[in-house]
Parts: sequence; C-alpha cells; structure tokens
Amino acid sequence: MQIPNIIIAVDGFSSTGKSSFAKLIAKEFGMLYLDSGALYRGVTLFAQENGMIDAAGVIDLDSLHEALEELDLRFHYTEQGSQTFIGTRNIEKEIRSMEVSNQVSPVSAVAFVRNFVDDKLHEMSIAKNVVMDGRDIGTTVFPDAELKIFMTATDQVRAQRRYDEMVAKGDSPVFEDVLKNIRERDYLDSHRETSPLTQSPDAFVLDNSEMTMQEEMAWIKGLIQGVFGIKG
Ligand code: DC
Repeated sequence: MQIPNIIIAVDGFSSTGKSSFAKLIAKEFGMLYLDSGALYRGVTLFAQENGMIDAAGVIDLDSLHEALEELDLRFHYTEQGSQTFIGTRNIEKEIRSMEVSNQVSPVSAVAFVRNFVDDKLHEMSIAKNVVMDGRDIGTTVFPDAELKIFMTATDQVRAQRRYDEMVAKGDSPVFEDVLKNIRERDYLDSHRETSPLTQSPDAFVLDNSEMTMQEEMAWIKGLIQGVFGIKG
C-alpha cells in the first residue's frame, strides 16, 4: 500500500507497545522510525553517568543545561533497527535499565530537556515520512501530524510486557517493582507541568490490551485507507 509523505504520531502510556507498533508501521510503509523516549532515556543516562543526579534523585539542572549543548545524542539505523548512540557509543541496552527507567520521568519533565529532544525530532523530520512514538508528539511536538494514534492498555498487561522484555534481555526484575514503576510513570507523565501526557482530541484511540500485533496492523491499515482515501 502506497501512502503519502506524512508524519504519524503514536502517543500513549508506558509499555503499551508504542515502539513495536511504530517500528512495524515504519517497516510496512517505508518510513523513518523515531523513538522520542529513547532520547529522554539517553539524556537521563548521560546525567546519571556524569554525576548530575544525586542519590536522592535531585538533578543538577545548571550542569545538565550546560552539558546538553555538547551532547551528541543520535540514532543509527542498523540491522537491529534503530539504535541510540552518544557519540560513537551504542547506549541502547543501558537506556532500557531499571535505573534509567526510574529516573527518566523527572528528567523528561525538565523544560529545557524537552526543548532539546523536540529540536532533535524536528531536525530528523524535515523530509516527513516519519513515524514517531512518545507522549506528546501529537499534542506538542507535531500538533499538525497528519495521523495521530493514542495507545492504551491495562497497567497489568503493560507491566507483564515490560517484565517479559526485561527477562528476555537477561535481567531478573521483580514483577511488583515493574508494575509500581509503570504506575508511577503514568502518574508523573500525566501530571507534569510541561506537556503532560494527554490524548489529542483528533487522535484515534487504540486499546491493545487484548490485541495481537497482526490485529493492530490490520487496524492501522484500515485507518490509513479510510483517512487518506486509499483503496485497498
Ligand atoms: O516510551 P519510553 O518508556 O521509552 O519513555 C521514557 C520516558 O520518557 C517516559 O517515562 C516519559 C518520557 N517521554 C516523554 O515525556 N515524552 C515523550 N515524547 C517520550 C517519552
């Protein structure tokens, strides 16, 4: 199916499968995939490794602000798909750790961090033909995105998915901790002052608690055909 050069924004709660879905959309329609959460995670890892977050979780905002000017955070597209790098170092595994997950919400609530990430997303989207996943893509970063999806699922289902993902990567998480982290992030992401997670009124809602990936893909194909008047 041929589709026009558009921006697709996939927003929603943590672990709703936004990135897996967005990656499949990118593959199916030959689009560039941008993982905005990975950029927030990259900034968080960078701040942690450079002593800008103390044991109590307090962020040294002045140092971080200054350091961001030099931070070379980018994506490389390899056979493993989109990989996040700082300079020449692949940080894809580190940014998915529990340490980063526990600290990423407060870091992503900082206004200058959001500007840093938004600028990167805009730079990478000049040619359009991109699918992006995040929390505020359809509301703040690209309010004019041609297609907006808002993903949701029950927190139990989401915690199980995140737990399985971590186990598959060789971690040994405790399910209750993962569930707690998901609930805390839901709260923080939806209640922060700067671009909180909200559903754009023109977004199409996808609750995938009980859906397979194939069903999700059938859903989006039908949606794209309907929205852009493409014959199947
Ligand atoms: O999608 P994720 O779990 O990798 O995102 C990590 C964190 O980054 C999440 O807790 C909220 C934040 N985030 C955000 O505030 N805005 C985005 N567009 C993407 C992620």
